[in-house]
Amino acid sequence: MIIIETIRAMRTAVRNFRSVGATVGFVPTMGYLHEGHLSLVRAARNGTDRTVVSVFVNPIQFGPEEDLDRYPRDLTRDGKLLEREKVDVLFHPSREEMYPDGFRTSVEVRGLQDRLCGRSRPGHFAGVTTVVMKLFQIVRPDAAFFGQKDAQQAVIIRRMVRDMNLDLEVRVMPTVREPDGLAMSSRNGYLSPEERAAAPVLFRSLERARALTEAGERDAARIADVVRGLIGGEPLARIEYVEVVDPDELHPLERIEGQALVALAVHFGRTRLIDNILICPKES
Ligand code: PAJ
Repeated sequence: MIIIETIRAMRTAVRNFRSVGATVGFVPTMGYLHEGHLSLVRAARNGTDRTVVSVFVNPIQFGPEEDLDRYPRDLTRDGKLLEREKVDVLFHPSREEMYPDGFRTSVEVRGLQDRLCGRSRPGHFAGVTTVVMKLFQIVRPDAAFFGQKDAQQAVIIRRMVRDMNLDLEVRVMPTVREPDGLAMSSRNGYLSPEERAAAPVLFRSLERARALTEAGERDAARIADVVRGLIGGEPLARIEYVEVVDPDELHPLERIEGQALVALAVHFGRTRLIDNILICPKES
């Protein structure tokens, strides 16, 4: 594996891959890698000839009150994990390399970026789409891999790729969970032992939503209420939102006719966790 820090060297490496006819798979990350990230790396390894993983804690997707400074970082450990996965390139640009003085452009997916998490994190998704567009231009992958864990992010990036006619395939991989159901996240390490013990209520409540739908419940508000009730029973949890939405447009649903996304954001102390599940009525 080679570690590349400049855009110029990254472009050269990809040009060399392409000159021998190899396809390129790309996994953008902010590092502090866990099994969720590694599942994307493995999907890239299986689906394409060369794998590029970026590790860049993107400052413009963090709000002024958010955790940019304390976001966990460990490039040495990340490098070892990626080496073991036989990744070809670890791209680790500096902040100045990505955002030199005078940087002024923003890429936004209007509408979709304002829903769900966008409501409490204004500017967050514009920060994500701007950096991902830049990374796509630098790496020029044939396929890029994202996690269902960040469902809204995946929907927005798919739409950006479609709207801007980017010549790459977006693949979204299932959420990887801890044995007790908690979705893996670089931010889980912020949780106190008590909060960590309480956090699996999120997945349990989403599983209940699925069970209800499969048992014939079609009223989205009732499903959301059950999820809220279960999480509300956990004193350490503070709900930001629980919504049942259309999985492509992210607008609220009244009735569950086909696939629906149940998405939530819940705070445990200073830590904000998100999770989601896709539900679908059983064929009768
Ligand atoms: P980060 O949070 O590091 O996540 C990188 C990728 O890993 C994202 O596609 C995310 O959805 C996926 N991922 C995280 N936890 C996962 C889990 N438990 N199971 C499956 N996939 C998981 O998302 C970002 O970084 C940034 O916004 C980024 C796209 C890199 C732009 O800065």
